[in-house]
Amino acid sequence: MDEERGRAEGVLVEQLAYYRARAGEYDGWFERRGRYDRGEAATATWFAEVDQVRAALAEVPLEGADVLELAPGTGIWTEQLVARAAHVTAIDAAPEMVAESRRRLGARAERVTYVLADLFAWLPKRTYDAVVFCFWISHVPADRVDGFLATVARALRPGRSVFFLDGRPEPTSTAADHVLPHRGEEITVRRLDDGRAFRIVKNYWPADELERRAAVAGLEVVVRETPTYFQFGAGRRPRGSRS
Ligand SMILES: C[S@@+](CC[C@H](N)C(=O)[O-])C[C@H]1O[C@@H](n2cnc3c(N)ncnc32)[C@H](O)[C@@H]1O
Repeated sequence: MDEERGRAEGVLVEQLAYYRARAGEYDGWFERRGRYDRGEAATATWFAEVDQVRAALAEVPLEGADVLELAPGTGIWTEQLVARAAHVTAIDAAPEMVAESRRRLGARAERVTYVLADLFAWLPKRTYDAVVFCFWISHVPADRVDGFLATVARALRPGRSVFFLDGRPEPTSTAADHVLPHRGEEITVRRLDDGRAFRIVKNYWPADELERRAAVAGLEVVVRETPTYFQFGAGRRPRGSRS
């Protein structure tokens, strides 16, 4: 059992090392460059579906809000949040990712407080108007998802919003030299442009399962999917709910 736990912890350490090393090349995935370029039609579908996700995020009341973003990475979504929120607290364990985000946001980073912390140990010290996490829940081991969602609920003021985004199990969403995790396995191998390989966690959750787990954690969430690439959840911590 201890051996099993040690192995699981080792994968989380390796997962963070992967993202730290990948920070400078991370945006190639989102922008569909290099190994992530799966052809013109796939790229067109990707960006059309990104627009659908942006439209869903636009429905979340963020104007003037005090927002918490978990695992913000290079700031692809922080940029969207900071355009509407009064302030964003962005928690990521990779200083290299924070540096990329600061570069992207420039002067707009003045309204972002970056916190370097391990989300597998972090607990909120206060509450927020909204909690957002993009391409993070798939990297949380299955046996930690309920605890993570409970932490999200604790970070939210009653009646306030949660939004999250992740990928669907579509082979062209990732690099040409990556394979999706085998059914029933949550550990997979990812490579950098230079070929270095790392083990990471990648879980694809059925929408109804995520909704159910969110409900258990005290969050009312509806999970929707775009036709090919994305899955996103939007909802709230119900008014009148207690910590
Ligand atoms: C797949 S990226 C998502 C980045 C961004 N949200 C996006 O949608 O592009 C995962 C992020 O989680 C961060 N991360 C990995 N392990 C972490 C940990 N234990 N605690 C906090 N952040 C972590 C990585 O540094 C990376 O920025």
